[in-house]
Amino acid sequence: MTNNYLNPNKSIENRFDGVADALASEGYVIIDNFLSSEEVELLLSVLKHYIESDRLKKAGIGTAYQYQVNREVRGDYIKWVEPSQALPPTQTFIDYLKDLIAYLNRTCFLGLKDFEVHYTMYPKGTYYDKHIDRFKLNDARVISMVTYLNKDWKEGDGGELILYPEDKPAISIQPTSGRMICFRSDSIEHEVLTTNTERYSITGWLLNQISELTFINQ
Ligand code: OGA
Ligand code: NI
Repeated sequence: MTNNYLNPNKSIENRFDGVADALASEGYVIIDNFLSSEEVELLLSVLKHYIESDRLKKAGIGTAYQYQVNREVRGDYIKWVEPSQALPPTQTFIDYLKDLIAYLNRTCFLGLKDFEVHYTMYPKGTYYDKHIDRFKLNDARVISMVTYLNKDWKEGDGGELILYPEDKPAISIQPTSGRMICFRSDSIEHEVLTTNTERYSITGWLLNQISELTFINQ
């Protein structure tokens, strides 16, 4: 394994050790056990509650995606988190996001100002075509962050995240429980392979400006 796979000790002080260096040199980083199994369990129960109460919406395609294809670009369903309304497990997760912002501003001077985050569910048989996370008309997204909530993920379940770092071989990442991936939103192309089981995650972006999400009709 490369040093892009980190397994930090869980204290806030060094939860993110090595992340700045990896983001600067490689553009991405993988942290296993970012969340404990208890934290995954709690976030998953919030997501399942949203699924059961029909609160997820089919994800749209940003203005970034000017190309048209004959098949669907993305098949996931999402629920945006409104931070002021977040349930306690989500609030804990938001605290980690804020810690990450503070850490990256301290170590990389990224000037991060805000974040946006949604719960995500890919139904069986869905995928997300190769893309970058930055919109054509809006460069607010600096760092993408995906944390997986798939408790019993196994080989064959599919839904791997493929990263395409510039000038380097592609990397296939299994969406295993508690694993967190961070990568540069402006430059790292990536895709989600077809999943053969329902695939769960919580997905966030660190922004260089205040989020424009209004939460109307969410
Ligand atoms: C996205 C995305 C990757 C994943 O939501 O933009 O690329 O592994 N997600 O879920
Ligand atoms: Ni993406």
